[in-house]
Amino acid sequence: MSFAFGIGIGTQNSQGEWLEVFYQQPVLKPDAALVQCARETLGYKGGNQACAANQADLNALAEALRATDHKDQAKLAELAAKSTRPVVVTLLESDETASSTPEVYLKLHLISHRLAKPHGLKLDGIFGLLPNLAWTNEGAIDLSELADRQLQARLEGRSLEVKSVDKFPQMTDYVVPAGVRIADTARVRLGAYVGEGTTVMHEGFINFNAGTEGTSMIEGRISAGVMIGKGSDLGGGCSTMGTLSGGGNIIISVGENCLLGANAGIGIPLGDRCTVEAGLYITAGSKVALLDDSNQLVDTVKARDLAGKPDLLFRRNSQTGAVECKTNKSAIELNEELHANN
Ligand SMILES: CC(C)(COP(=O)(O)OP(=O)(O)OC[C@H]1O[C@@H](n2cnc3c(N)ncnc32)[C@H](O)[C@@H]1OP(=O)(O)O)[C@@H](O)C(=O)NCCC(=O)NCCS
Repeated sequence: MSFAFGIGIGTQNSQGEWLEVFYQQPVLKPDAALVQCARETLGYKGGNQACAANQADLNALAEALRATDHKDQAKLAELAAKSTRPVVVTLLESDETASSTPEVYLKLHLISHRLAKPHGLKLDGIFGLLPNLAWTNEGAIDLSELADRQLQARLEGRSLEVKSVDKFPQMTDYVVPAGVRIADTARVRLGAYVGEGTTVMHEGFINFNAGTEGTSMIEGRISAGVMIGKGSDLGGGCSTMGTLSGGGNIIISVGENCLLGANAGIGIPLGDRCTVEAGLYITAGSKVALLDDSNQLVDTVKARDLAGKPDLLFRRNSQTGAVECKTNKSAIELNEELHANN
């Protein structure tokens, strides 16, 4: 069985290089009939390939698809045949290291469409295949062509707004998964996995290959590679440590029904029903005093030894400055009112 399929409408620079691709209906594990249509009409010979497709190719693909169960893909191919923008049909036989920009975009779409989970796809080497672009109100523009496009827009009485300069676009320009609220759409990158019932407030941020399993209130940063369990909240300005730059090699995650307080941070994975006091940053090597119910010292351990353990409350003793850990008796209940609008 093949790994992925997508008909994409994209943008190329004046050299004909792909800048970005929009896949409205990416498919994970396409069936044999879908792949066979691509073989017959696009000259797809197997393996991982991004096939540039012209109008005739796409009309032939649409016709072949109409004879299968893939009516929605047939419709998409038919519409793509009329596109004034370049079209690519990307077929991935297996989840290998990507070798083209359209392949990377297909993988990022699979995650944001919730067809694949963060850490579920091979994403090594993607930075080299994602060009750094100006994301504007007129679409993606190669940075070497930006100054001319700005001048052209002015001469024609328009202004070109550059919303960001980045390798990743904002997710919502590609897909808005069901059941989410995102107050500031620039804060969620394509490749984020935003679970149903998640609210991302203005201060919240979700990187690619990271996200939330389900209902969550996100007012802090979810770094690349970090996954937040159902029912967990990230307080204002809090931080989850990423592994991309000097964050070590422990993959950070947050279990279910946890609370990271405002301005708190974690450099270890948390188990279920854990709370981190507002303002406390727990790094993996932090020495932590384990306290019993009557606040007596039981042991001193490194925070990494507590990684993934459930029902813990971390706080910094306001009198001694020591980082302390107690049993979390009052696991934070999700604020029903805050989540009612999901
Ligand atoms: C850590 C936290 C959960 C503790 O809250 P709590 O469980 O309600 O605890 P309380 O404040 O009732 O304190 C219980 C006891 O511990 C003591 N205590 C609490 N924090 C302490 C600290 N950092 N150092 C020393 N003692 C502390 C209290 O003084 C109190 O002592 P007492 O039994 O003698 O009265 C809370 O302070 C916190 O940081 N919540 C995060 C909220 C947040 O940021 N939400 C996101 C908003 S965007």
